[in-house]
Amino acid sequence: MVSEERQWDRLMAMARIGAIPGNGVNRACLTEFDRKARRLLIEWATAIDSTVTVDAAANLWLRYEGSDPQAAPVVTGSHMDTQPNGGRFDGIYGVIAGLEAITALHDQGVVPRRSIEVVAWTNEEGGRFAPGCMGSMAWSGFRRIEAFSDVTDPEGVRFADALAAHLAEEADLPRRPLGSKPHAYVEAHIEQGPRLEAEGLDIGVVTGIQGSRWFTVTLTGETAHAGTTPLALRRDAVQDMVRAIGALNALMHDPRDVLRFTVGRIAVEPNTSNSVADKASFTVDFRHPDKNVLLSRGDAVAGVVQAAVRDAGVAVQETFHALPVEFSPLVIEAVERAATDQGFSRMRLPSGAFHDAQFVVPVCPTGMIFVPCRKGISHNPAEYSEPSQLAAGTRVLTQTLVELANG
Ligand code: GLV
Ligand code: MN
Ligand code: MN
Repeated sequence: MVSEERQWDRLMAMARIGAIPGNGVNRACLTEFDRKARRLLIEWATAIDSTVTVDAAANLWLRYEGSDPQAAPVVTGSHMDTQPNGGRFDGIYGVIAGLEAITALHDQGVVPRRSIEVVAWTNEEGGRFAPGCMGSMAWSGFRRIEAFSDVTDPEGVRFADALAAHLAEEADLPRRPLGSKPHAYVEAHIEQGPRLEAEGLDIGVVTGIQGSRWFTVTLTGETAHAGTTPLALRRDAVQDMVRAIGALNALMHDPRDVLRFTVGRIAVEPNTSNSVADKASFTVDFRHPDKNVLLSRGDAVAGVVQAAVRDAGVAVQETFHALPVEFSPLVIEAVERAATDQGFSRMRLPSGAFHDAQFVVPVCPTGMIFVPCRKGISHNPAEYSEPSQLAAGTRVLTQTLVELANG
């Protein structure tokens, strides 16, 4: 039986690893906190005799053996890293829900035909090393893991070095090859939006994920004295950043409020009050459910920035490009059956957030289960779902996994 209490206790134990004020969590990928959380997960998994392995992207796998070990497994899971100012449920819920599902099956002696694997993907958030979803992109073959080697975190640490150091710490874990061919994948997650709560529903049956593109714009001017340099002699990177962001706001204007456009990180050098900035960089996070809009407006970003700036040199780098995906009827219908069987109310809805599931779609039938979260708040310490709401999602997940694993 899925235990609401055990699941909640485990989520709260995880929330203490990297806790920040206001009930938040800052557990960046490939840090000591990440390693500590993974060790705790491994401890719980080995207590139910599940096999633990790690791949070259540091994705962590827990396997509950089915009666036909040769059959392609059913995979569930999510991520354990958080945003710098993250909450207690984004990502970790899907991992703990997967563990709870196999723990419940273990305790009841239920052994489906296919094995069930719970995966904790590396660096879904992209908060420390951009972009997100590196682990799932590398596993699915969408990108080689080496493609991310030179990405640096804000302290200048290279991703390749952080990954190597991390894998050295997990050298006691058996390695598995990167990539596999599951029978199906289903990921549980908090909704991170307001719809389920507003409609008073228990379960979101996710139909797909909108597309995302990330860019980093770097503007190079010239530093100068703030008190003496006339405007005509300045090449002020900050003023050009303001022009560029204004022009991008116009490009991304959408009266229907479907398009999502965010400038979430800026950096200025030398970052001092009384010097004109010679360097300003900012990120663009742009999302849309329609591939054509995603492609046309995304492709216009560099030109719009170039036309808007007055004095600075412009470099625009695209760091993430994920087209919209649709989930498989096999998984969608299994989730719906499980919700109905257990008397939970539900609706179909698309995901505005990206998830590792996006990169699993080309590999095997894929779907997701959402549970409501308070006011739709996420990427915020105030993120909250009730223990009973989280348990409902896990009950639906468990039944879905068993159905798929017997198929
Ligand atoms: C995932 O964290 C996202 O930003 O959608
Ligand atoms: Mn997430
Ligand atoms: Mn997130």
